[in-house]
Amino acid sequence: MIIGLEAIAFDVPRFFISMTELAHARQVDPEKFTVGIGQREMAVPTPCEDSVVLAGQAGLTLLKEHNIDPASIALLIVGSETGVDHSKPISSYVHKILGLSHACRSFEVKHACYGAMAGITMAVNYLLSGRAKGRKALVIATDIARYGKETLGEPTQGAGAVALLISDCPRLIAFDTQHEGFYAKHVMDFWRPLYSKEPYVNGQYSIQCYLQALEGAYSLYKQSALGSGRDLFNQRFHACLYHAPFVKMTQKAHIKLLEIDQQTIFEKDSPLLEAAKQDFKKRVAPYLELNARVGNIYTGSLFLSLINYLEDFKPEAINRPLSLFSYGSGCGAEFMSAALLSSAQEWRNRHSFRKQLAQREQISIPDYEKCLEACGRMDLIDQSVCDPSLWNLDRPLVYLGNKEHKRIYSLEGVVINDTR
Ligand code: CAA
Repeated sequence: MIIGLEAIAFDVPRFFISMTELAHARQVDPEKFTVGIGQREMAVPTPCEDSVVLAGQAGLTLLKEHNIDPASIALLIVGSETGVDHSKPISSYVHKILGLSHACRSFEVKHACYGAMAGITMAVNYLLSGRAKGRKALVIATDIARYGKETLGEPTQGAGAVALLISDCPRLIAFDTQHEGFYAKHVMDFWRPLYSKEPYVNGQYSIQCYLQALEGAYSLYKQSALGSGRDLFNQRFHACLYHAPFVKMTQKAHIKLLEIDQQTIFEKDSPLLEAAKQDFKKRVAPYLELNARVGNIYTGSLFLSLINYLEDFKPEAINRPLSLFSYGSGCGAEFMSAALLSSAQEWRNRHSFRKQLAQREQISIPDYEKCLEACGRMDLIDQSVCDPSLWNLDRPLVYLGNKEHKRIYSLEGVVINDTR
């Protein structure tokens, strides 16, 4: 049985800022943000765009654009770091928004940025078991990455959601279900206590943890899929996609992977390091524009890169394998591979993430700071209200605040709350 990705869609907040303007406001050399970190723009959510809104809209877009019958979804998994409730999962709101059948498993997975990839592996295993009987799984990654004003993490914020339809009639990529590599270790690189809107993060340590997890997950994958020889990764994958908390992290990851593969350390200024950087430009960098223009969306960052790849792959890539690496702080990681299907060409003729991003509006740094501050105040008490018109926000699905301790959403002007 072939299991893979049948459809994919994403949603981002309506507003964004320029990283160059942010750098000027923070009195930092703009090249630190645009070259050193690798980001061009950053998505900015208003208080009316929470993780449910982003996930719900990504799901609605996917169902509509691909004419998917909501009754065909047997499994809904939402991966998120940005929960909206200590008990009720985001998936429960999304299930209602999408009008899915009651004959559906629905739950949320939390493992920092790894939750959606964990959801995908669960979905694949469910479909492989044969018990889905032709029905499909919808996995949605949704997050708001928020470190706060004037923190070191500020230029690595972002927000958005990616919806992925996994089925036994894939049209975009087919997963390699025979080989896998995974890794887990208890580390305190990034975490967010129950009482905090912002994570606690040890930035440089988190980079080391990411690279260590990549080594662990890839080594396991390599053992089963490629064997013990050298330079096997190099020969196998035509494109390599990584979790991208910021674009420059993917370059560090790719160089590390080539070092593991070639069983050597690339010394500073060495021809090997230069060759690895050139290879990064060929196999990784072409698929990072969407990440550079949205920012970190935690669980969905890897899949933003996948969308970019599905629109920009070269014709000779058809039927060839690509690699995907997911990392979630704390930490958990997964290395997997997939093959590009020829039907992906039809999909890319109908989609353009660049057109979707062109509908956003750039805002000033003071306006971004107002959004950040207002989002920080939301959900701390009952009766908090957010009015989309105050933010000039025009989108079909919005969060309106809390009433009687229940979250209230509006879809096309119709209020969604208690369903008794
Ligand atoms: N021109 C060009 N480059 C410049 C520059 C300039 N003027 N000034 C600095 N740089 C370069 C630096 O040399 C550095 O590049 P290298 O790493 O290649 O050496 C880069 O810009 C960043 O500068 P710093 O090392 O000084 O970084 P920082 O202390 O400002 O923090 C950060 C960077 C650690 C990523 C911080 O933004 C952060 O903590 N972010 C959140 C944590 C994170 O994203 N961790 C990633 C791994 S964890 C994960 O993946 C899970 C997740 O999503 C959170």
